Amino acid sequence: MKSSERAPLLFSQLALRELVLRNRIVISPMCQHAADEGRATDWHLVHLGKFALGGAGLIFTESTAVSPHGRIGVCDLGLWRDDQVAPLKRVVDFVHAQGAPIGVQLAHAGRKAGSQALWEGGRALTTEELRLADGTPWCRLGPSARAAGPEWSVPEALDDTGIAAIIEEFAAATRRADAAGFDAIDLHFGHGYLVASFLSPISNHRTDGYGGDRTGRMRLALEIAQRVRAEWPAGKPLFCRISAVDGAADGWSVADSVVLARELARCGVDVIDVSSGGLTEETRRLTVPRGLGFQVGFARQIREETGVVTQAVGLIVDGEQAEEVLQTGAADLIAIAREALNDPYWPRRARETLGLDPDYDAWPVRHGVWLAKREETMGQTLRQRRDVVRQRSQHAGDVGLTQGKN
Ligand SMILES: Cc1cc2nc3c(=O)[nH]c(=O)nc-3n(C[C@H](O)[C@H](O)[C@H](O)COP(=O)(O)O)c2cc1C
Repeated sequence: MKSSERAPLLFSQLALRELVLRNRIVISPMCQHAADEGRATDWHLVHLGKFALGGAGLIFTESTAVSPHGRIGVCDLGLWRDDQVAPLKRVVDFVHAQGAPIGVQLAHAGRKAGSQALWEGGRALTTEELRLADGTPWCRLGPSARAAGPEWSVPEALDDTGIAAIIEEFAAATRRADAAGFDAIDLHFGHGYLVASFLSPISNHRTDGYGGDRTGRMRLALEIAQRVRAEWPAGKPLFCRISAVDGAADGWSVADSVVLARELARCGVDVIDVSSGGLTEETRRLTVPRGLGFQVGFARQIREETGVVTQAVGLIVDGEQAEEVLQTGAADLIAIAREALNDPYWPRRARETLGLDPDYDAWPVRHGVWLAKREETMGQTLRQRRDVVRQRSQHAGDVGLTQGKN
């Protein structure tokens, strides 16, 4: 890249409290259904470790339950018991050793607790399956006795004692997250899980202080955020994932999200991680139409109207697109999920797309030093070879298109 050109924002640092990210690329939380009674396994070490090798600025674990009742699936990660700390610390230590920070997504699945992994069908577990899942009774909890959809059982409506207990579960999980050495927390307040179900008028029919108008429906979110912030070291950032809209006309709206983001920031949340949908079967169908960067507009609106740091997510697929999201002021951070599964070295590829040199010095030394040496001796030959391959595949694509038209 020429020195006169502006350095891409995607590879600029961002300071969040005392945490300085090396770039703006965040690996989005991704459920793996691979934990053993909430404890991380070798799968998590490799799954998350490879993103650290891949050069991401920050890596988030999957949704990690604050209580066994808060698991999305039977084999989710958890931080509801002390023996779950050490296996996660092993992952954290490995990621740190590669020069990357790692955060944990803390969650309670609420009335959407207990579902199959996608490869098993992805449906809600029946009450009997929930009972048998791991030998302990497992119940669905919500703001009101309203099921998330026809296949879901009716949740138990939480009373004040139950709500207070969940807030304390978030606090205890936060202390364990700190003990495991995590650098950041992402509170999962989206996708129809417990807190999202309190926010939405579609699922929250309470008439007490945790329901009714928007202020009442936001109360649980704000109380959890305040409690977690009080437990979480002042130098470590707090993210919060929200569903900016339910996707139904009478549901939670982006205007509501703007108000929530402002209030969360007042509670000490540093980044609003902007997703959407997931509340009910109905809104799952009605949700925002999918397309490249389909949720970026929500991040932009929240950022513009509140001044809060935002993270954009959803079908952001290459470096150029990510850079445009940052350059146009829609977000400060870019979260990548499926493209990182497709290519854990996505940040390295994004550098290439944006015309930056590979910066092998910043790679883990066991890999970088070999690639730098090869570049020195064979760089020209390799680049020529890549150009030939690119031209051939371009040509094959053009021929394919022409034939498709005939
Ligand atoms: C395998 C998989 C698991 C996911 N699990 C979670 C999760 O635990 N928590 C969460 O907030 N989102 C989860 N998501 C959603 C992603 O974090 C992300 O928001 C979504 O996939 C859109 O981004 P993408 O287009 O880059 O994949 C998951 C997505 C995938 C593909």
